[in-house]
Amino acid sequence: MSIDLHINDRQSAVAPGSSLFACAEQMGVPVPTSCRKQGKCKECVVEVTAGMDCLAAPTSPERHLKGGFRLSCCCNIIAETGVVRCHTMRRGEMKIERHAFELPTAGNKLFLDPAVTRDGERILLDGAEIARSSAPIHGLAMDLGTTTVVVRLLNLETGEIVADASFENPQRFGGSDVMARIQFDTDDKSRLLQRTLVGYLSHVIAEFPVDPLTIYELVIAGNSTMRDIFFRLNVHSIGQSPYRSLTELEMDDGKRTTTSLSESAKKLALPIHPQARVYGLPIISGHVGADAAACLLAIGLADEERTVAIMDIGTNTELILGNKNKIFAASCPAGPAFEGGAIACGMPGLPGAIEKITIADDGSVRTGVIGDVAAQGICGSGLVDLLGELLRTGRMNALGRFENGEDQFMLDAKSNAPIYFTESDINELAQAKGANVAGLQVIFNDFGIHFEDLDVFYLAGGFGRHLNIESSKRIGLIPNIDDEKIVQVGNAAIEGACIALLSRAKRAELEKLVKRVTHCRLETHENFFNFFVEGCQFNPVEIAAAPHPA
Ligand code: FES
Repeated sequence: MSIDLHINDRQSAVAPGSSLFACAEQMGVPVPTSCRKQGKCKECVVEVTAGMDCLAAPTSPERHLKGGFRLSCCCNIIAETGVVRCHTMRRGEMKIERHAFELPTAGNKLFLDPAVTRDGERILLDGAEIARSSAPIHGLAMDLGTTTVVVRLLNLETGEIVADASFENPQRFGGSDVMARIQFDTDDKSRLLQRTLVGYLSHVIAEFPVDPLTIYELVIAGNSTMRDIFFRLNVHSIGQSPYRSLTELEMDDGKRTTTSLSESAKKLALPIHPQARVYGLPIISGHVGADAAACLLAIGLADEERTVAIMDIGTNTELILGNKNKIFAASCPAGPAFEGGAIACGMPGLPGAIEKITIADDGSVRTGVIGDVAAQGICGSGLVDLLGELLRTGRMNALGRFENGEDQFMLDAKSNAPIYFTESDINELAQAKGANVAGLQVIFNDFGIHFEDLDVFYLAGGFGRHLNIESSKRIGLIPNIDDEKIVQVGNAAIEGACIALLSRAKRAELEKLVKRVTHCRLETHENFFNFFVEGCQFNPVEIAAAPHPA
């Protein structure tokens, strides 16, 4: 009598009575913990994807968790036979975009001008002594996303990247999108989301090859909600119309002059030098957060003569359009469909995800799978390819209906769990696409240009980096502009955070720049709904069909 237990990529037969944490230890799967299995730190969260009925009922330390999430140290196996599948919040394994490519700022000799400097053994922050040490001085840059977190460690005297790391945001137990996290954080008075993230981050910092006490500043780019939760601010107002961060409201009241945030590492319980500063980049407005602001630095918008757009497609898609004279920004609530959420066989960009799809003339389906493993599902770039191929081969029409009258398309019937795609999946993706396209139409309309007038279209983020441009244009996810104008830049936000970490001048430039951005509020825009309905169809977004400038 034993349970067939699968944790991450390990499998073992285990006897009932043990906790999932103890089993994971025996199987050599590391589980984050700071309380040694006391049910206090809440870092040992796992997501149970099968066999919940083999486990004891949730205990009181788990009352904050919903769905399949459990604290592995509190969760005992009680059944004598069965199959349990679970995974820790993923680290390393997830395909997270850590780097940026082809940015105009790359290779610029940034004048090294960090806030932390050295005078002999004296370590100075903004010129005031905070420590004495002869060791090298370091800083951290972090892109804090709803789904993923990327951290870079830099030597502040040379500007070199010493190490980097990425991990799935462990706050996922509080919901997969920002609205769910806002609700969770508002209801939870114990700041569990912040503490859990700090717990994971502490492990990452401990694994970096330097003494954590030589880290004197952390610069954070992240969406408004993630940033503010990290700084322990009340995020309730970001979830309510007109969707404004507490920092914006305080600015309106004259209580502060910037939306950037500054706090000591000690106050936020970060295991770096206690006098180190944690600096949250300013936000642009509402859901157009510090990650979008970081992109402004990364693409060098303050000096840009050309008219450029940057689009970071995600659960919340951010859009920026402009040049050095005029900048517009918008945020589109696209939902998780393009990240594999709400799709029957959807999954994140993990090993086993189908990321490329072509349908041959004979109807056979060819797939490219991440990692050297069998296909388990389809990630965002695979979904875009699939839609594009179904459209190209006439299997799906522009309204998202299968032409053969069936309600699903089978990709792989042979694997243990068949991988298929349904009309209801198409509907989810149509709505996500509709929101993105409507955002594009509104921002170009308000800015007063046609799509064809654009000089450069940057696609930022991991999803944007791996998109097939042809498929994306065919289904109308991006405008039908010349390929030469499209640049897939990867993680521009982390690049912007690094620039701000290394240069006080650039930091000051950004503080001024964000105040010049015009925020297009889609939710109240008179044409949003019409653009959205049109954008839900799978037609190319013709540059001639761009709205006429006002
Ligand atoms: S190990 Fe700390 S709560 Fe489980």
